[in-house]
Order: sequence, then C-alpha cells, then structure tokens
Amino acid sequence: MELKKLIFDDLKNLNICKTFDNLYDLLTYSPDVKNGDVSLPCFSFAKVLKISPSQIAEQIVREFKSEYVWKVENINGYVNFYFNKSKVYDILVNELLNKKSIKIGENKTVFVDFSSLNLAKYMHIGHLSTTVIGSVISNIYEYLGYKVIRLNYIGDYGTPFGKMITAIKHWGNENDIEKLGVDYIQDLYVKFNVEAEENQNLNDEARLWFKKIESKDDEAIRIYNKIINVSLLEAKRLCDKLEIYFDSWTGESYYKDKSKSVVQELDKMNLLITSEGAKIVDLEKYGLGACMIEKSDGTSLYVTRDLATAIDRYENYNFDLGIYVTSVQQNLHFARWFKVLDLMGKPYAKNLRHVSYGTYSLPSGKIGSRFGKQALVKDMIELAVSRAKEIVNSRGTKLENVDKLCNDIGIGAIKFGVIKTERNKDCVFDLETSLNFDGETSPYIQYTHARCNSIISKAKNMQSVTNLEDINNLDSFELIKLLNNFEKTILSSAEDFEPCYISRYLLNLCSVFNKFYNQYRIINDGVLSASRLQLVLLVKSTIKTGLDLLGIHAPDVM
Ligand code: ARG
Repeated sequence: MELKKLIFDDLKNLNICKTFDNLYDLLTYSPDVKNGDVSLPCFSFAKVLKISPSQIAEQIVREFKSEYVWKVENINGYVNFYFNKSKVYDILVNELLNKKSIKIGENKTVFVDFSSLNLAKYMHIGHLSTTVIGSVISNIYEYLGYKVIRLNYIGDYGTPFGKMITAIKHWGNENDIEKLGVDYIQDLYVKFNVEAEENQNLNDEARLWFKKIESKDDEAIRIYNKIINVSLLEAKRLCDKLEIYFDSWTGESYYKDKSKSVVQELDKMNLLITSEGAKIVDLEKYGLGACMIEKSDGTSLYVTRDLATAIDRYENYNFDLGIYVTSVQQNLHFARWFKVLDLMGKPYAKNLRHVSYGTYSLPSGKIGSRFGKQALVKDMIELAVSRAKEIVNSRGTKLENVDKLCNDIGIGAIKFGVIKTERNKDCVFDLETSLNFDGETSPYIQYTHARCNSIISKAKNMQSVTNLEDINNLDSFELIKLLNNFEKTILSSAEDFEPCYISRYLLNLCSVFNKFYNQYRIINDGVLSASRLQLVLLVKSTIKTGLDLLGIHAPDVM
C-alpha cells in the first residue's frame, strides 16, 4: 500500500488544504527518518494563500489529527509527519500477509524478443545480456498477469552462412558438421575471417553461396541446414543450462519471403524511393536518415525482415506490447523501422519498445575464449560452477546435494552480474567479486534466504510469545516499510524495463534484514518472538519472489 495515503486521507479534509488538488503528489517520503516519515512542503501554497509557508505549516500542525501519526512538526515551511509505528506496522503486516499479487496485465499479451542470437556465432558473453535481461522482463510481465510470449528470433539467415559454406568447401568436410558439432564450424568460420583479410575472392564466393541459399540450390540448402541444426542444438542446450525457455525459436529465415510483401506494400503506398539501385524510405524529416528496405541486388535485409516479422506477430498474437531486447548499437535500426511501420499506418507500431543495454565484458585477461576475443557462455558457466564448488566446500558444507546448490550459485552469479546495474551501463563481470557471500552479490541474497529459512525451521513447534514491543523499533519499521515497497518496485521495473530495480531492492532488503537479525533476537532462551518471526517469514517470501523474477534459485540451505 502507499503509506502516504494514510496521511493524505486526513490531510485533505483540512480547510487549508482543500484548494490544492496536487496535495497527494506534494507529500513525499523523507529520505532521513530523523525528519519524520512523510513531509509536505508548503511553498507552493504560499503563493496562492498569500501567507508565508511557515504560517501555513504551523496551521496544519495545529489542525492535523490522525490515528496513524504521533507527531507533526513545522520545520521552515515543511510539515513533517511521524508515523505511529505500531499502528502502521500492524496495518502493513496484515496487508502483506494477505496480499495477492497485482494483475495489471490481465487479458493483455506481450511478446519479448530476446536472446535472438546469430547462429553463425557461438554463444558468448555478449549474448548473455539480452538473454538474461529479456528473461527477467518476461518473468516480471508474467508476474503482473500478462500473457507473455518469449521469442528467440534466431539469426539464421544472411551472408554469414555463405561464409560458412565457403569455409567448409575450402578447408572442411560437410560430413563432419554433424559429427564434430558447433566447435568445428566455428573454427572454420574464424579461419574464413582470417583468410578473407588477405583474399577478397573469398568474400565474393561467400556472397555467391548466400545467393544460392536464397535461390534454394540443393547443395547450398543441404549444408546450410546442417549448420543450422548443430548450432541450434547448442544454443538450446545453453539456454536450458541457464534455465531460460522460449515459446518459439522461429528465426529470420522464416520471414524472408514475407518481407517481399512488405516491399510491395511500401511501394503501393508510395513510400519507397530508389537510390543508387536500392529501395529506401526517406526518414530525414524525423532525423532518422534513410532506411534501406531492399538492396540493389534484390536480397532482403534485416530491417525488412523485422517489418515482416512485426506484422506477422500482430496477426498471430494480437499483442498489446512488443519488447525487443538488443544492444545499444541497434538503437537506430529499431528507431527507423518502428517509424516505417508507423508510416505504413500500423497502429501497433506505437506499442513496440526497444530495450537496449551496454556491454557486458570480462576484466581483460580472464577466461579468454578459444578465439582469443569473447568468453564463451559455456566456459563461463563451467568456471562459475566449479569456483562456487570450491567456495562452498571451503566453508565446510554438510549438504548432500552440493552439486545442485553450486549450480544455482554459479549460474545465479552470472545472471546477477548482468542485471545488477542499469542496463544501459557497461559492466564488467568479475567472477571472484560476484561469488563473494558478503558483497553486493547473488550468493549474498541466496544466503540471506537460507538464513531466514533456517530461523523458520528452528522456530517450528517452539514456545512463542507475541509482544508488540519486540517490533517497536526503527529497524523493524524500516524493514516492514521496505517489504511494503516491493510491489511498487516490480511495477516500476516493468515500466522502465529495468531488472536492476529488483536486484538492488533485494540487496537492500537483505542488508536491512541482516542488520535487524544481528541486533534483535528472534529466539531468546528457547522462547520465540512471534512478531519478529513474522518479519522473517515476510522477508523470506519476498526474497523468494524476487529471485524467482530474476530467474535465480533461492536455496533453503546453504
Ligand atoms: N540476431 C540479431 C543480432 O544478433 C538480434 C535480433 C534482435 N531481434 C530483432 N527482432 N531484430 O544482432
């Protein structure tokens, strides 16, 4: 619930406040509890009422009465309200215990296009951001009651596949593709890029092979299909490992023919102009330059396929919101084709959002990939899980299922690294820092969850007392206020497509809880404080829900 509403309800009836319709918005939460819980600046009233802010504040202090507030004061034209803690506490606990999650998305459909990796490339650290951010956004919208469709729009089309075939023809063997798998074609692809620096003919050859794929030449399609099959298998295996799932893996190649009708539609609407043989839509007056729709050789383009895909998705899913998660480098691409779709008169163009992110990288010199550039996701997972194992073992665990726990810790840390900071900020993933049980990390949150669980288990069947004095302190009050903020945090993270609001919230919750835990005894001399236990239960369930949204497991024991 919105706590300031408790004050607003009584405040709005005071004569002096009746003229102000922005009263509710003016009420702000004090950053420091020393100045009360909520504060009202009276400066904007002063202009209208023609008396000083301080006189107004004084009058409010005199007249305001509420069972939820024990003290009101005027400090230089600000009215500070201090909550009556036990009263407010009671209301909040009851509300939180009986709370059902808010379903603002009922009967609404949203698709999230994420991960969407180019199959010509191995899944590397650069693919983690879209994969993790997209999955968290999906989870959040689902939590809010939306029907969510998770789409992995794989890059299974374009000249890279011409390059691969060329490489296989020169230095490999088509029959080895399925036998040796993705490592094999990746190595050949890398070799192609190295050789093509010296030998330009290779690029011409690759273009020719791609043309052959487009014209459905038997041999080209046969090799192309083999490449797709093995890369897709590996991509799915890695997403499974990350426990990130999709409703569809329909990729670009599926839309290549549909994109022809987009070109025709644009042509009919007189939106196309020919420039140096290519067809473009002029977006100059929107500050977006020119959007190329068809190349001079008639081959389809990424943009055109995206237009065709959006139109098709609307026909299939009738979505209310469409979210695309890609790196910031694609900002212009999305701005352009969203505008073209809008010019085509598609009303759903305004319901598309591009969610971008900065780079996620490793500190240089750590986990070098086999290509010397990008760290591979499979290597990162392996390393994180095995390091988690070392750490867990060094803490002297007595757990039976250590492997599962270490998997949850290692993979959690990799995911958390992506969503810990604002998505548009570049960030560096440092394994050691990320696995620190006491830092701003996922193991710290997981550990706090396990701690809550251990208290709850200990408390079972224990003799208990309910004493309101147990929670009549600033720390308990801060904790309950924070728990109360969870829902608001989820809503704003959905609105801004910012998973980090939730990760930061959880870090804060854990730190406030651990402070509380260190200061107050929940079980004292074999007697349980029921009121304090209630807080532990709420913290545990909130952490669990939060970690679920982030796609990170919440272990009961650590
Ligand atoms: N495959 C593209 C890439 O790796 C990303 C696709 C994003 N989705 C889209 N509908 N354009 O750059």
